[in-house]
Amino acid sequence: MKFTILALGSAFSVSQAAVLGERATYAVVGKPEGFATGTTGGGSAACAIPSSVAQLKTWLTDSTARCIVLDKEYNFKGTEGTTKETGCRPASNKCPGAGGQDAINKASWCTNGNAGAGVTSISVTYDTAGVSGINVGSNKSLIGVGSKGVIRGKGLRIANGAKNVIIQNIHITELNPQYIWGGDAIAVDGTDLVWIDHCKFSLIGRQMFVAGNGASKRVTLSNNEFDGQTSWSATCDGRHYWAIYLTGSSDLVTMKNNYIHHTSGRSPKIGGNSLVHAVNNYWWSNTGHAFDNGAGGMVVAEGNVFQNVKTPLLANAGKFFAAPTTSANAVCSANLGHVCVLNAFGSSGTLTGTDTAFLSNFKGKSVASASTASSSIANVAGVGKI
Ligand SMILES: *[C@@H]1O[C@H](CO)[C@@H](O)[C@H](O)[C@H]1NC(C)=O
Repeated sequence: MKFTILALGSAFSVSQAAVLGERATYAVVGKPEGFATGTTGGGSAACAIPSSVAQLKTWLTDSTARCIVLDKEYNFKGTEGTTKETGCRPASNKCPGAGGQDAINKASWCTNGNAGAGVTSISVTYDTAGVSGINVGSNKSLIGVGSKGVIRGKGLRIANGAKNVIIQNIHITELNPQYIWGGDAIAVDGTDLVWIDHCKFSLIGRQMFVAGNGASKRVTLSNNEFDGQTSWSATCDGRHYWAIYLTGSSDLVTMKNNYIHHTSGRSPKIGGNSLVHAVNNYWWSNTGHAFDNGAGGMVVAEGNVFQNVKTPLLANAGKFFAAPTTSANAVCSANLGHVCVLNAFGSSGTLTGTDTAFLSNFKGKSVASASTASSSIANVAGVGKI
């Protein structure tokens, strides 16, 4: 008797899943906030599940508007073979073989001085698919089902004029994490209207998100988990140094509700002439720095939580408004449309920045709202949380 009831129950759930697949009832959840407001991705295109890594790649790269649904892991490791060549052990790897990160010699990084004094040549072997991202075309929505949508071993690149892309609820992982230059999870370079939401990034060799030198215009990173835990750390402490790099030209980047943990630097590094609105993010357990604001970078950081972050702001060669006091924060109203919200700190260094003249750059743009700083973001950021 009991056996019959169980059998009926399982038959019901199988047929229900099949119906969902056929009718393609999947859809992007919600709408982007902040600078990438208006991003529509694949729009009303019917959603479909690629049958293989090859089909996923075809659908992402072609010039058809698409809603692509991932209900399983797509493993690109081995699909382009392995590469063995000369790389290096940079000066930063002070713990070789015991948790350090060696490097691929991309763009002569090993030999042009960037790898530091005392760099030595070594042989490196890496998965070829990891070092170059899939070139995503315009008008795409890429969405995951529950926490099942995983891309292993290859990242995504939105560049050269491709625009209007939504990536939601996808986990990108294992891009040659043992090597600096092993791969970027998401790279943008010469685009517009990109919304990355509820994604997770882990075990990435190089950047989890990188905006290259080209103009990437309007970008929103929301509700993502940047998980820096690694066995190959450039700082020899189990934490990833290369998290977020925003050095584009004329880029407008909203970072809202992201959970950035176990990193040790560049979380984010900013430059070019990027305007960055970092609001309601939660940094936790960072042994190095969160922000590094280079010349030209313009940042408003408000309503964020810094918990166990050694250095919230490494250097400020650009402009930085750190929402320092309730009375000072009123200055935001005229251009951001709200009084800026205080940041919160626990066992962390200080964040300073009182530049205000650049706030006029927010005028007339879609600006994300701000709430009281809260570490509860950790419960809602990442995959499987929508
Ligand atoms: C993307 O969609 C827009 C709006 O429908 C359209 O004008 C444009 O041609 C599309 N781009 C591509 C590459 O298909």
